[in-house]
Amino acid sequence: MNKFSEFNPFDFSVPTKILYAPNGNHTMLKEIESTEVRNVAVVIDKGVQKNSGIKCFLDLLDKKIGICKIISYEGGEPTYDGLDKIHSEFSDVIPKGVFAIGGGSVMDIGKAIAVLQTNPGPALKYRGFNKAKKKALPIITVPTVAGTGSEITPNASFVDDRAKIKLGINGECVRPQYAMIDPSFSLSCPKQAVLSSAVDSIVHSTEAYVAKKANSLSRFFAKEGFVLACTSLEQAISEEKALEPRCKLALASLFAALAMMHSGTGPAAAMSYPMGVRYSVPHGFAGGIFLPFVAQITRESGCEIHQDLITGIETKNSNYPQFVSALWARVGMPNDIEKMGLTTEENNAFVEDTLKLSGALEQHPVPFEKQQILMVIDRMRKSRKE
Ligand SMILES: [Fe+2]
Repeated sequence: MNKFSEFNPFDFSVPTKILYAPNGNHTMLKEIESTEVRNVAVVIDKGVQKNSGIKCFLDLLDKKIGICKIISYEGGEPTYDGLDKIHSEFSDVIPKGVFAIGGGSVMDIGKAIAVLQTNPGPALKYRGFNKAKKKALPIITVPTVAGTGSEITPNASFVDDRAKIKLGINGECVRPQYAMIDPSFSLSCPKQAVLSSAVDSIVHSTEAYVAKKANSLSRFFAKEGFVLACTSLEQAISEEKALEPRCKLALASLFAALAMMHSGTGPAAAMSYPMGVRYSVPHGFAGGIFLPFVAQITRESGCEIHQDLITGIETKNSNYPQFVSALWARVGMPNDIEKMGLTTEENNAFVEDTLKLSGALEQHPVPFEKQQILMVIDRMRKSRKE
């Protein structure tokens, strides 16, 4: 059961300087200009390069700071091998910093390139936590879709193709120095990417709120992030040019990441990893589909903590699992795990892979083991057939 109490001691720090400015290219770049960061490499999502706001940002960046290399990334979940290939393109330049402009995958690649510039490859050598010996180049993240929280987290996720597992290059070496958040950059983002990323932030805020390690401040941010994302998501995907809901999603993502950094994640995040590695399901969908089922099983174990999150939200749904299921239905979340690839024959392998994420599972306020994971997938299949 959750032992949260306001008497529990905690620490909370945000080493990344956060610059938040809707339509604020000039303001944000002024800050970087005042540092010694010059002649930077840019890792950018190919899809956003045509965005007029991003074009203007890149022009300004080149004028004020200087760009020595631009790598356009097109593709899904980054792998360690893919990372080495990208890094090999840096043999002719010596950047003094790395700008990572894009979604979670691009930000993760940018962070890792900053590590590999000062620490010899291959990338797999740095799999795990705090494996890099030398300080990485300064990392500046510029998210173009809100949700992953990678703009401030000390993590960069990569798939190990041979071991068929998603791990990462983690620790202070990949901690961004600056996160430049301009929600207008997400206006050209495809609807499905906006949805998946926002759902990712709802997974982060939910699991950070209920986690055993949660503290007063992480819970504050988790709840704020959850409410902001849930109350702006529908408008953000139905009104593609509206800036206000994108601002709310950007803040929701940031708040959820602040909470997650201090509380950790939980079972839905753990289950999202094999869904991503085995069936290439986008990360947000891969965790979000499980979220209401995890909460329902938690509720049946006598723990009502998820209920706090919907307190204050105007809704006809009386409990958290119903609230999230109804929201998922309204926004058109995919929900057929069999179609995604998780067939009954795959159950055991899926459970085995999920159990490898024991750190996340152990953070849950009630035991979440093989039996509960199987229960989640069984109920999901049944709910599709009803
Ligand atoms: Fe996530």
